[in-house]
Amino acid sequence: MITFDPEKLKVPEVHRLLLGGVGPRPIALVSSVSADGIRNLSPFSFFNVFGANPPYVAFSPARRGKDASLKDTYINIAETKECVVNSVNFSMVEQISFASTEFSPEIDEFQESGLTPVESVMVRPPRVLESPFQMECRVEQILNLGDGKASGNLIICRVLLIHTNEELFEHGIISPYKIDLVARMSGEYYCRANGDSVFEIPKPAGKTGIGYKALPLDWKNSELLTANELGKLCHLESLPTIEELNSFYENLSPRMKSRSIEELNSLVISEKFEEAIPAIINSGDGSRRELLYKTAKRYLALNKIYEAAVILTIAHW
Ligand SMILES: Cc1cc2nc3c(=O)[nH]c(=O)nc-3n(C[C@H](O)[C@H](O)[C@H](O)COP(=O)(O)O)c2cc1C
Repeated sequence: MITFDPEKLKVPEVHRLLLGGVGPRPIALVSSVSADGIRNLSPFSFFNVFGANPPYVAFSPARRGKDASLKDTYINIAETKECVVNSVNFSMVEQISFASTEFSPEIDEFQESGLTPVESVMVRPPRVLESPFQMECRVEQILNLGDGKASGNLIICRVLLIHTNEELFEHGIISPYKIDLVARMSGEYYCRANGDSVFEIPKPAGKTGIGYKALPLDWKNSELLTANELGKLCHLESLPTIEELNSFYENLSPRMKSRSIEELNSLVISEKFEEAIPAIINSGDGSRRELLYKTAKRYLALNKIYEAAVILTIAHW
C-alpha cells in the first residue's frame, strides 16, 4: 500500500489519483442558459443523486486548472438558478466528449455537438433529445470549495421533473441493458455498463444472515472459496442441520454406477447436480472434496446458497 497526503502533492497529481480511485463515475450532461439566452451543454462526472424525498442531484463544475477561472456552466447557473441534468448513454458518448471542449461563452454547444435541444416544461434550459433520462432542475445551493486552480464547486439541484422512455422499463425498473449508460474512469477511460459488466446481487430482503463470524473454519480456511463466495454464504439464515443434510441427500436420485473423475467433472460443469452429487459422495476418490467444492461454487454462482452450504458441509464429513 502507498499512502498519499494531498497537501504534499501537486494539484494535477491529486486530480489524477482521485479520477483513478473514485469510479466509475456517472456523467451529468448539464444544459444551462446564460442570462443573455445563450445555451450551454457540458459533461460533468463529479456527479450523483442525493435523496429521493425530495429528489436532489449535485455536480461539480470546478475552477479551470490553468487559471482558476469559473466555467460557463457555473456562471450560467449562478445567474439563472436553473439547469437540466441529462444522463449519458453509449450512443451519444462521442458527442458529449466533444461538448466538453472549452468553447467561448457565446458558442451554442448544442450546435457544436449536434445534440438536439427539446423545450423543457418547467425551466428555461432545454433538455437533450438523445439522452435517455432527463431531469429538469432548480438550483438550490452553490457551495464553493476553494478559489484555487481545480477547486470544486458543488451545485445542489432539486429535481422538478424527470423525463424518460417507457421502453427502457422491465419488471418495473429501468433495465441497465436497455438504457446502456456510460461512466468515466481515470485518464481518458470510459466504461459502458452493459453486457458482462452488469451483474445482479440479490438484496438481503430483511433477513439477517449468519455473517462471516459464524461460517465454519473449514470453509474460511479453504483456498477453494473466494472472498465473494464466502460473502454470499454470510447470507445463510442458519447452517444446515444433520436432518436437512439427510433429506437433501434422499431427495436426489442416486445412481450408484461409478463414474470417472472426468465424467463427474463434466456433470458438475453442466450443472447436472442430481446425478453428480450422489456419484461424487460415493466415489471415495481423493478428489471427492475438490469436486464437492466445485459443485458448491456452481450452486453459489446460481445464487443457490443453501444448496452450496449443504454440499460444503458434506465435503468435510
Ligand atoms: C466525461 C467528462 C466528464 C467531465 N467531468 C467534469 C467535472 O466533473 N468537473 C469539471 O469541472 N469538468 C469536467 N469535465 C470537463 C468539462 O466538461 C469542460 O471543462 C467543459 O468545457 C466545461 O464547459 P463550460 O465552460 O461550458 O461549462 C468533464 C469532461 C468530460 C468529457
